[in-house]
Amino acid sequence: MSKLVSIRGAVTAKNTKEDIVRSAIKLADELYFKNGLRDENIVNIQVSVTDDLTAYSVARAIRESGHAVALMSASEPDIDGGLKGCIRLMITAESDYPAHNVYLGGARALRPDLTNVYAIALDGPSGAGKSTVAKLVSKRLSITYLDTGALYRALGLTCLNRNISVSDAEKVEKCLKDVSVEIVYDNGTQRVMVNGVDVTMLIRTPEVSMAASAVSAIPYVRKKLLGLQREIAENNSVILDGRDIGTVVLPHAEFKFFLTASAEVRARRRFNELKAKGQSVTYADVLADVITRDCNDSTRAVAPLKCAYDAIKIESDDLSAEQVADVIVSKVTESLQ
Ligand code: DC
Repeated sequence: MSKLVSIRGAVTAKNTKEDIVRSAIKLADELYFKNGLRDENIVNIQVSVTDDLTAYSVARAIRESGHAVALMSASEPDIDGGLKGCIRLMITAESDYPAHNVYLGGARALRPDLTNVYAIALDGPSGAGKSTVAKLVSKRLSITYLDTGALYRALGLTCLNRNISVSDAEKVEKCLKDVSVEIVYDNGTQRVMVNGVDVTMLIRTPEVSMAASAVSAIPYVRKKLLGLQREIAENNSVILDGRDIGTVVLPHAEFKFFLTASAEVRARRRFNELKAKGQSVTYADVLADVITRDCNDSTRAVAPLKCAYDAIKIESDDLSAEQVADVIVSKVTESLQ
């Protein structure tokens, strides 16, 4: 359900009609885009402008660019040491997403804490190496990592422990009604808690993988985990890995990547991982699991696995995790400069 959010933005401009119009529209466009806004979701936009910008009305420029929204304009007094030539917008809107504030040009100096916050969505099929890559990227960029698969695994495990058939949506929903899932970071490492109990070490078995894939197709389960994933991205720079991060969870993420590899390469990697953990599995079983999960994850009705139209696709058959991390880190750092 949508809630009301306050979204802020600022930009600097020269005192000419042309520059005021250009800057105001650029700021409004960016705020609309980053927050997935449409005029009909906006309650109002408040505009304030420092009193040295007299060449044109910002509210008028926004209205003339085609936005039919309630606008209220005010002039800011000249405050000693304040930023000159500054346009500020505050948008009140109904939104399903946390506010993405936008500070452009000279106004970036106003809120360095907010302007540097960004999200990286890393989606792809199971075993593509997303979590290894995401850990490397989070370390190199010093940002938070959320492995969203762990949340589905925690709920899959809970159903298994309670002897609930994971394909029975009604029973799963009943079983999970009283279950709370939480993420805590212990020295930068993600731990998953179910009703306050740490289940991190119990969720990596093949049985839990299949249970997670099955429960993740249930709309109730996806809804239950959506808010938690978005909360972590609020006010923190993050990398989230999953299946629907760039399409559903954070559709306005600044950076989106889709990591793939052939089923055989993915199964080989998973097999080696499980063997290293001492689990007794065969390559053929792991490959069959990978193929079944691919099919479940990409054919389900709600939030299926798919590459967002604006994601960069990375084929990792012939790339190491380090090389994939290099691609992501360089795209991000290039664009943040
Ligand atoms: O990434 P993983 O293998 O840990 O994910 C376990 C299952 O959870 C996977 O089969 C699909 C599901 N999943 C999902 O549907 N959406 C996500 N964002 C992450 C995982």
